[in-house]
Amino acid sequence: MQKKKMIINLLDQKETIRPQLYGHFIEHAGRTVNDGLFVGKNSDIPNRNGVRLDIIEAWKEMGVSLLHWPGGITSESYEWRKGVGDRTPNVGITSKNSIDESNDFGTDEFMDLCDYLGCDAYIVSGTLCTDERDLCDWVRYITSPLPCEQAKQRASNGYENPWKLPYLCIGNEWWFRESSNRYAEDFRRYSYAVTSLIDRATKDQMKIIARGPHLYQPQMTLDLISQLTPGTFQSVGFYIVAKPEPACSSSNFTEEDFLNTLFKIQQTDELIDTNIGIIRSNPLNKNVRLSIDEWGTWYQNEPEWLWKQSVTMRDALAVSQQLDIFNKHAADIEMASLCMSVNCLCCCIVTEGNELLLTPVFDVMKLYRQHQGGTLLGSWAEEFSTKINNDTVSLLSHSASKKDDELYITLSNASVSESIDIEITVFGCESVNVSGKIVTGNLCDKNSFEEPDTIRSKEFHGFTVKENTIHVTLPPLSLVALKGKL
Ligand code: AHR
Repeated sequence: MQKKKMIINLLDQKETIRPQLYGHFIEHAGRTVNDGLFVGKNSDIPNRNGVRLDIIEAWKEMGVSLLHWPGGITSESYEWRKGVGDRTPNVGITSKNSIDESNDFGTDEFMDLCDYLGCDAYIVSGTLCTDERDLCDWVRYITSPLPCEQAKQRASNGYENPWKLPYLCIGNEWWFRESSNRYAEDFRRYSYAVTSLIDRATKDQMKIIARGPHLYQPQMTLDLISQLTPGTFQSVGFYIVAKPEPACSSSNFTEEDFLNTLFKIQQTDELIDTNIGIIRSNPLNKNVRLSIDEWGTWYQNEPEWLWKQSVTMRDALAVSQQLDIFNKHAADIEMASLCMSVNCLCCCIVTEGNELLLTPVFDVMKLYRQHQGGTLLGSWAEEFSTKINNDTVSLLSHSASKKDDELYITLSNASVSESIDIEITVFGCESVNVSGKIVTGNLCDKNSFEEPDTIRSKEFHGFTVKENTIHVTLPPLSLVALKGKL
């Protein structure tokens, strides 16, 4: 048993943890949209406007704060006009090859869904199949009141009232095909067109995101930022999905693969600092934040469909460590979207016909939602780590926040064999009343349609409290969320 000390300082109140850090990515790829969250209005599966009700319920339980759509890579082939009114199939990727897929889930369905969930809409526009004029028309279609031409088109499709579009990103992974100079030119053209051709009210409530490179390529961030005009972007988007090296199976993996996965996640902590430092090195960019466009874990593809992977206890721990890192960077991050929400990669939800399965990541997102909108608190814990290939991998992760008279603490133990006995001192209060939940299991454990609750959050009683000191025993491979009444 490891014995560690931890301090949470109620007097060290930092940034608000923006709810938008808890967003989800839904791409027209694999089985995320078609044959996933969207079943169509005439389906026998209960739905609202074609979107499965059981998924809507799961999103509500997790407190999904933002939806990011239509891609990813598919935003480059997305033509918005084909997805409103009379639909024309669009290129989507459902297997190794691109195929035409139904466009029945288009702008109206997406915006209506965000509206219904009360979450922010985040649209990524490609720069290959969409020119500046198309993009302006698209933004107008979404946001303009009648009587403008695009608003009339929207109204004739059944949606008279305009929606809000809080986030618009220009371009996806441009570095696969062009230099940062070329992208910077594209960005200048598109952002200028959007901000000069849309109405003032829309412009004022919309943040424009320039697409940055992978978080792991700070040199490219430097090249790009030096070419973007401050004030034309409010955020820079980054891709940080953790791909352990060497690549491994999502269901059948070793402890070494697990530690390699955590190592990739933990690298993002410093990389966030590096990239935000580069961006803000120009004082005119001091208010710019990062948008984490895609995050999660990515292993070898399972054969059934594109980007299918098993979601196990490994992912629960990887996701909890990543969320602790995001919380700690509350001042630097505008938003983040989990890649992806449904059926692909590090998903929370898996569907099969009319059945629905909640993965261990669902439970983690649900427990962490308590941090949304809270004030990040200064916290520190003694280190507990191991080595893999000379790299240090931390096994104890944590974050803490406060909302009114409630204190939220998340803690995780990534050791496969050792418990951790943590003594937490909460500075700034006399006493605290605590309750807790735990997610734990073996490393490769996952939920299945036959055994859906193998990994499920449960009430946690492994702690004692004396005045302002909490003693917690974290079992091996576990994450715990504590709620304290101050
Ligand atoms: O998340 C899946 C794919 O990964 C996205 O389409 C692309 O943007 C990224 O490379």
